[in-house]
Amino acid sequence: MTTRTPLMAGNWKMNLDWKQALALVEELGEQLKSVDTTKVETVVLPPFVDLRTVQVAVDAGKLPIAYGAQDISEHESGAYTGEVSGAMLKALGATYVAVGHSERRQYHGEDEKVTNAKVKAAFASGLVPILCVGEPLEERQAGKHVEYTLAQLEGGIEGLTAEQAKTIVIAYEPVWAIGTGEVATPDDAQEVCAAIRDALRALHGDEVADAVRVLYGGSVKSSNVAELMERADVDGALVGGASLKAEEFAKIAGFQ
Ligand code: G3P
Repeated sequence: MTTRTPLMAGNWKMNLDWKQALALVEELGEQLKSVDTTKVETVVLPPFVDLRTVQVAVDAGKLPIAYGAQDISEHESGAYTGEVSGAMLKALGATYVAVGHSERRQYHGEDEKVTNAKVKAAFASGLVPILCVGEPLEERQAGKHVEYTLAQLEGGIEGLTAEQAKTIVIAYEPVWAIGTGEVATPDDAQEVCAAIRDALRALHGDEVADAVRVLYGGSVKSSNVAELMERADVDGALVGGASLKAEEFAKIAGFQ
């Protein structure tokens, strides 16, 4: 069991228009009434176009939900058609932003250099990056999952100050477990989350390593979250499909 404040983040991916987003966030606010929200941080990552709606609903209902984006531009502002800057996200009250999700790496060719630039852009705007790392199936089958994941981690956090590294969130999401229904075993999740913490310790020392929250992501549901959360280095979950149902996601936030 983690000694850090657990963080449960819902990545809505490219789902829900603004009306559906409004309905989900309001219902999530209702469902979270049965969860002790002083003991867990609940975050949603809607599509960009839903962020204003989520902001208004969270503010109006004083809901215990933080929110953020699924991506950020590495650029500050200007002629970057289609991009959204960290400053724009911050102005919407966003606190988190996912960076380097495997779907960004796979479908948009984002490499370590871009991911690292986006992590830095998040910090420059006062946002907390949730840096996503994790191996594809071939690397796991070859027994290279830890090595592969740590290379992504090191590339993603290169050049950060200890102060920045201390507040980053790392999400370990093995690609073979994403959207497949095939969740990593608690031992698999713990092995890599612990390796991530050890790497942070080697790079930035005990204070950083002991503060950083390392999440597991990949087919997390209310039925498997409890056993994952029993592990010492799993500090929460990054949830895709199951975060689209308010009752289910609230159960996950309550670890059951
Ligand atoms: O970012 C969350 C994610 O990629 C996991 O998705 O649907 O397997 O929970 P899912």
